[in-house]
Amino acid sequence: MSEVILVASGKGGTGKTAVTANLGALLARQGYKVALLDMDMGMRNLDLYLGLENRVVYNIMDVFSGICRIKRALIKDRRFENLYLMSACPRKDNRDITPLHMQVLCRKLKKEFDYIFIDCPAGIGAEFDISLGGADRLLLVTEADIASIRDADVLSRYAKKAGIDNTCYIVNKVRVDLMNQHLVPDLKEIAEVLSNEMIGLIQFDDNIYISTNRGIPIVYKEHTYIEENFRNILGRLLEKGEKKKPAETGESGEQVENRGQ
Ligand SMILES: Nc1ncnc2c1ncn2[C@@H]1O[C@H](COP(=O)(O)OP(=O)(O)OP(=O)(O)O)[C@@H](O)[C@H]1O
Ligand SMILES: [Mg+2]
Repeated sequence: MSEVILVASGKGGTGKTAVTANLGALLARQGYKVALLDMDMGMRNLDLYLGLENRVVYNIMDVFSGICRIKRALIKDRRFENLYLMSACPRKDNRDITPLHMQVLCRKLKKEFDYIFIDCPAGIGAEFDISLGGADRLLLVTEADIASIRDADVLSRYAKKAGIDNTCYIVNKVRVDLMNQHLVPDLKEIAEVLSNEMIGLIQFDDNIYISTNRGIPIVYKEHTYIEENFRNILGRLLEKGEKKKPAETGESGEQVENRGQ
């Protein structure tokens, strides 16, 4: 059984896109077939963080509106076998897209992919509502910051009302020195606000910032403390889900096209 994981935050800039790129890349390296969908219309970044921006021709809006077939909008990553990107539209688009469009797209993608991640823009908006239409689970990315935590809680409750019960969170950009001095909320204080399960924390690290700017997921380099950290987070994320093992016989992206759109 495949899963669609929605990566979201209430507040902007918490690291959703970086987390999506790195978890997706790690999963692909573990043998799972992974599709990353960018739903941040007009402000897309996932193509940049994966270094795939020059290869984007069609985007998810083209798929939704029937301009192209699914396969045409899926870009295969050259560094990570089994990793595919479907980019967002480069501008805000007034085509009438509903949660049902996402539901149909995800249903089709689930026939080919083990995991589908949807990278959402921050907050509650049209793209989040559309994305909820296809999502099985929610992964919140928050910072250890009062605004970010409260907004994550609002988002989690909103998603729950829409039927998403399986929600967990990551605390990103953690500054342990500030936490230890009680200058920012610590993990216990965050857990008092967020009722969901925390599956890990990621320290603030210049190397992550550099890696996104270079278009190379930081986990590309193996056996670093960051890669290990992402692997542990991924392990906990998978434990909380339905799907356990990489598909032994995955079909190729080409077969997605054959099913049509
Ligand atoms: N753990 C980290 N340490 C240092 N920098 C980080 C970390 N995580 C993310 N960043 C940086 O923070 C910036 C924002 O990250 P990212 O674009 O992933 O956030 P986002 O939540 O997707 O933002 P938006 O809400 O605009 O979509 C990027 O420059 C990224 O490199
Ligand atoms: Mg983003």
